[in-house]
Amino acid sequence: MKLKTLLKGSVVWAAAGLLIASAASATTFKVAIGDAAGGTQHELGKAFAESLKEKTGGKFTADLFPNSQLGDEQDTVNDAAMGLLDFSILAINNVTPFSPSVAVLTLPYVIQSAEEAKKLTLGEVGKELTENTIRDAGVRIVGWSYSGFRVLTNSKRPIKTLEDLKGLVIRVPKNELMIASYKSWGINPSPLAWSETFTALQQRVVDGQDNPYITISAMKFNEVQKYITNIRYLFSLEPLIVSEQIFQQQSPDVQQAILDAGMEATEHSFTYLQETESRIKDELVAAGMEISDPANDEKEWIEAATTQVWPAFYDSIGGKKRLDEILASLGR
Ligand code: MLT
Repeated sequence: MKLKTLLKGSVVWAAAGLLIASAASATTFKVAIGDAAGGTQHELGKAFAESLKEKTGGKFTADLFPNSQLGDEQDTVNDAAMGLLDFSILAINNVTPFSPSVAVLTLPYVIQSAEEAKKLTLGEVGKELTENTIRDAGVRIVGWSYSGFRVLTNSKRPIKTLEDLKGLVIRVPKNELMIASYKSWGINPSPLAWSETFTALQQRVVDGQDNPYITISAMKFNEVQKYITNIRYLFSLEPLIVSEQIFQQQSPDVQQAILDAGMEATEHSFTYLQETESRIKDELVAAGMEISDPANDEKEWIEAATTQVWPAFYDSIGGKKRLDEILASLGR
């Protein structure tokens, strides 16, 4: 064999060896994502992965698995708690069943704007909930995506009043607070896992559901839903959680990189929502969806949910005083 060919061969092998060595020394975390790519969860995941890679000089990377490929959102909490999964990005309402005090962020009509959502999640309340979630559920919240209000969609008719809602079958996550909210509005909702929701809407097993505009678009719900009602009972927060077991196995530097990357991704998510939501809303209308506002500034919806649902959950959130403190911190 000619010398040139031999040398060329050894260069190829040396390069391959380097690649194998660096692949062996790099750690790739798995990040489960409940929604399809294109939504706020995926956007948070991409920003986190980029930032983590940059902060660790490429030694730590994250692979994203959208569309519930790694299991339904509530299952990913269990898997992360057991150290079988590294990270998950999921709706806050799917964390509440594992750590009841988180319910304070999902009490109907507590959060009234994206700014309030940011203030609560990044302030004292967020810190306390992070500690509670580690204690109760074995997972640590390291970032937040801000996804906007969960609006109601259905395939039957425009809904403005609670009277209009009667007779509709509405899917909700397996979340006591959301079930209680619909009961306060006079109907019995159908709890169903997120991964089964599109098919249930498509097959008309259920008539409607609620989720933010960006999620409705990412999940292509416009293909199976016609009407939207702009209710504002829940501002959708979608935390990035890490298995506490996995987190504790990392060096202090890597732990810090995870926390910093989570915060950078959180800031990105806030900006993304402001820049994207109204465009998506226009696109859904262009795709044939019809949007209504609840009658009379949503008064009957607000009155029913706050008077019937709040008292039923005082114990889980740490008492009425706790809610009053939170509302006071928001200037109410
Ligand atoms: C749900 O409705 O279960 C969640 O909002 C799904 C999601 O993660 O967007």
